[in-house]
Order: sequence, then C-alpha cells, then structure tokens
Amino acid sequence: MIAVVLVGGEGTRLRPLTLDEPKPVLPIGGVPFMSLLLDRLAAAGVTKVILSCGYLPDRLRAGIGTPPPGVDVEVVVEDEPLGTAGAIRFAAVGRVDGPFLALNGDVLGDADFGALVAAHRTAGATASIGLTPVDDPTRFGVVVHDAQGNVERFVEKPPNADGLGPAPWWVNAGAYVLDPSVLDMIPSGRMVSIEREVFPELVGRGLICVRSEGYWRDIGTLESFLTANADAVAGRVHTRLGGSENAVLIDPSATVADDAIVIGPVLIAAGASIGAGAEVGPDVVIGAGATVAPDATVRGSVLLAGARVSALATVERSAIGLNALVGERARVIDSALGTDEAAGAGEELVGERRPS
Ligand code: GTP
Repeated sequence: MIAVVLVGGEGTRLRPLTLDEPKPVLPIGGVPFMSLLLDRLAAAGVTKVILSCGYLPDRLRAGIGTPPPGVDVEVVVEDEPLGTAGAIRFAAVGRVDGPFLALNGDVLGDADFGALVAAHRTAGATASIGLTPVDDPTRFGVVVHDAQGNVERFVEKPPNADGLGPAPWWVNAGAYVLDPSVLDMIPSGRMVSIEREVFPELVGRGLICVRSEGYWRDIGTLESFLTANADAVAGRVHTRLGGSENAVLIDPSATVADDAIVIGPVLIAAGASIGAGAEVGPDVVIGAGATVAPDATVRGSVLLAGARVSALATVERSAIGLNALVGERARVIDSALGTDEAAGAGEELVGERRPS
C-alpha cells in the first residue's frame, strides 16, 4: 500500500512556530509529528510514503528522521501550492497503480488506516473518506451519509448544527482511500480542493465513508498543538511514547532538582534540566536540552528543544520555540515565541505571538 501525505501547507494558524519549521515536523511529546504518523502507516502495512510538500522542503526532509523499517519515504516538491486535490494528483500520478491512501499531514490520531483500506476494498468503492465524530461541527466538513456509509452530501463549516440531525456529527477526518481513476477528475495547472471540488462530484458514484471512534486531533492551532502534546504524554492517543494518565516521563539524561515539583502528565526530554524549586506540569513537554531555571513555573505548555525559561518566570498554555528565551520573572500566558525569540525580563505576554 502507498500513502500520499499532504504536508505542503504553511501552517499560518500555528505561526510563529511554523515560520521556520513546517508543521509536520513540530514535536509531539518530543518526537517529530511525522515520525508518529510514519509509525502508524507502517503498522497499517504501508510500504511507501510520498510526502507532498512545497513549504520548507529541506527542513521537512531534515526533520523526519529515520523512517520505520520497511517504509520508503519520497519527498515530492510542488513549485506552488496546488490545493489538496492538486497536490495528491501531482504526487500520485506515475507513482500509484492501485487504490492508495491520501492523508492530511497534520492529524494526530490512532484510528486504523488498515480498516479504511479494507472497507474501501470490500465495498469496491471509488473513493472512501474516514470520518471522526465531533460535538461542534462548525469548524469542520460534515459528511451526511446513509446507514450503509454512502455519502449523500457535504456541509462545509456550518454556522450551526441546524438540519444536521443529532450529535455527534461525523466530519471528514482528512484520511482517504482513492482509486487511481479519481486522479483523472482533478484538473492540472491550478489549485483544486478535494473536499470542495472532487468529492461532491463523486456523490452517488462510489463515494463511501467509514466511521472511526479513535483519537483524532488536527494539530493546526496553538491550542490543539498544546492539547495534542498533553494527550500524547497522557496516553489519550496511542503512540510510541507509551504515555499514561499522570505519566511523568523523564529521560535518563535529563536533570531534575530534588525539590522541583513535577506534576504529570509531563515529559522531560533528553538533556533538559529543571532547577530547584521550579514547578513543571501538568500537561507539559520540556524539549531536548531545554532549561527551566529555579523557581520558574511551567504549566500546560510545550518548550521546544533548547528553549530557556529563566528564574521566577511563569509560562502557561504557551509554546516556547527552538532556543527561545523567557526572561527572569516574565509571564507568558496563551502565547507563542518563535525560534530564538525572547520575552524580556519582567515582561508580560498574554495572547501574543512573537513575531506576530
Ligand atoms: P493553515 O495555514 O493554518 O490553515 O494550515 P495549513 O497550511 O496546513 O492548511 P490546512 O490545515 O488547511 O491543510 C490541511 C493539510 O493539507 C495540511 O497537512 C497541509 O500541509 C496540506 N495542504 C494544504 N494545502 C496544500 C497544498 O497546496 N499542497 C500540499 N502539498 N499540501 C497542502
């Protein structure tokens, strides 16, 4: 089985973290997100992964790490963004000769891709869309379907749930199995959206959907990125981290002062250090080599590799970028600092992105 993974987006909602690192290699529990996705694809029997990218391709290549055994990864670079369908076409033509998986490359989950492939084959479908249940459909593409899984219509980001039946609502999870014939329906040379232009054309022509109840989260906003990190450590999504509720995962090469307070779920990666009297957790990931100085507090946050939180500073519900610095007594709340950025000593950032 071949999988095309869409990773060409600029990740604008996750700036400044995505200004110099593409979203798919940002860390979840200290591991590049794409490595976790490759684990999942390997478990589903995928042997070749084509990464369809355009934004920061070199950083993407560098950030992927070593693929799991038996998985070959090819990076295909678009000259300009082609949209979700255009990108699938660009990556798949000439490389697939049977049904293949196509995935949005920014969804953390643990649903079984193998089950989606099996349902597609059993139904003899042209295209199959994986679905996930949500309680609030307004940010998603709702897929209205019958009891047999035949898609009836799509409702993109509805203003409310009127006319959509009872909760939960089943939305497009960004995972598809496509017959190669679908590629012929995608015009070349312009941006084409698979959700808005291709799937509606396929209604009544072999388009099915498959429900899955597993964990599902698009990591594309600051809030969801932080939640995904916490969920991975807490084991709410199954990953190689082996997290569990209230887990305290400390790499043997990290140093934690005896009187530091560490509240799980928390992960402290290789070479990180936590100073005396500091309070770290819950829902915190301290990246490799990051430091939390004495008497600082970090809650509900992610420190990327090499980030530094100075003495008596407070970081809450925030992401601190690679080698970024939070100065002494600074307060960083609901905010994000990009690579090498700083919050000055005593400064207060609330709901800010730096650079904005
Ligand atoms: P935002 O700018 O914050 O909306 O994020 P994004 O750029 O990632 O866009 P979005 O979340 O809508 O994209 C969903 C998935 O499709 C992501 O994995 C993107 O990387 C990918 N994607 C979106 N547009 C393109 C494109 O034109 N080409 C490729 N190759 N991938 C794309």
